[in-house]
Amino acid sequence: MTIKDKILEKLIKNKGKPVSGEQLASELSVSRTAIWKHIKVLKDEGYMIDSSTNIGYLLNETPDTLTPGEIKAGLKTKVIGKDIKYFKETESTNIIAREIAASVVEGTIIIAESQTAGRGRLGRKWISPVGGIWLSIILKPRIEPVYAPRITLLAGVSVAKTIQGFGIPAKIKWPNDVLINGKKVCGILTEIGAEVDIIDYLVVGIGIDANVDTGTFPEEFRDNSTSLEKEMGHKISRVEFVQKLLEEFEWLYTEFQKDGFPQILEEWRNMSATIGQWVKITAQARTIYGEAIGVDNEGALIVETGEGHLEKIVAGNCEHLRRP
Ligand code: BTN
Repeated sequence: MTIKDKILEKLIKNKGKPVSGEQLASELSVSRTAIWKHIKVLKDEGYMIDSSTNIGYLLNETPDTLTPGEIKAGLKTKVIGKDIKYFKETESTNIIAREIAASVVEGTIIIAESQTAGRGRLGRKWISPVGGIWLSIILKPRIEPVYAPRITLLAGVSVAKTIQGFGIPAKIKWPNDVLINGKKVCGILTEIGAEVDIIDYLVVGIGIDANVDTGTFPEEFRDNSTSLEKEMGHKISRVEFVQKLLEEFEWLYTEFQKDGFPQILEEWRNMSATIGQWVKITAQARTIYGEAIGVDNEGALIVETGEGHLEKIVAGNCEHLRRP
């Protein structure tokens, strides 16, 4: 954490109450001039801070930015989000995460206000304007690469539960799109670096259309997308959402490491929008139609394509269809 982030953390903890420059300087072992310089940068970033020589610094208003100081103030996790790398704008948080994965601790987060080349599944692009939540979590689970899809499902559950915590009925479309009223609000892209039999790192990229106007998206994304703002009828606090999401994710990830996958799978099934639906699956140059009847222990979708004929789909694109 930088000195600026530490100052911000202290100001947020004391929001509405002044903190003296002398106290900040002595607690952070820097000069009062250094504190003053950092405060100036924070003001430039949009924080409304009153300063007076007698009283100290008083934080009145925080901008809705996803800076490490904002997220960490009050964050209750031990591992996920311990280290947060913040970008106002970047190409793709997943790209950065992959570049630095080997040299950072498990749970490190890369987060950006906007992405210029956001990446979606199956080589698609991901529209990532200011107002959304674009983040990647770096994990180092001691599991075989074949089990990586389990973490993607875990991530879907964590997002859906977080949204539900805000009072909205979120569901999951296989494998990992989170939907509200049938429209996509979140996509997840998991990428791994691995040896043949063990994962070196796993990057879980989560994109949430929080306070964005999906009406401005290109046509191919527009009709099937929604945003948290639209569904709730007002803007949400992205900082609060990210904090809740990281806490939910850590809780599920700890459970996964302790007890394995059954509990998470159970939660995924309960929130599934796909099970029981007629689906069209496009997977590796073949297309399958049928009824999605379940998900197996690895997270593969089981589709009944004809009387008693079952297909197991490990990866692919899934569309929900009207029952014929
Ligand atoms: C999908 O196609 O549904 C997956 C979209 C994943 C988007 C997120 S946004 C944060 C992270 N960085 C990226 O470039 N992609 C993921």
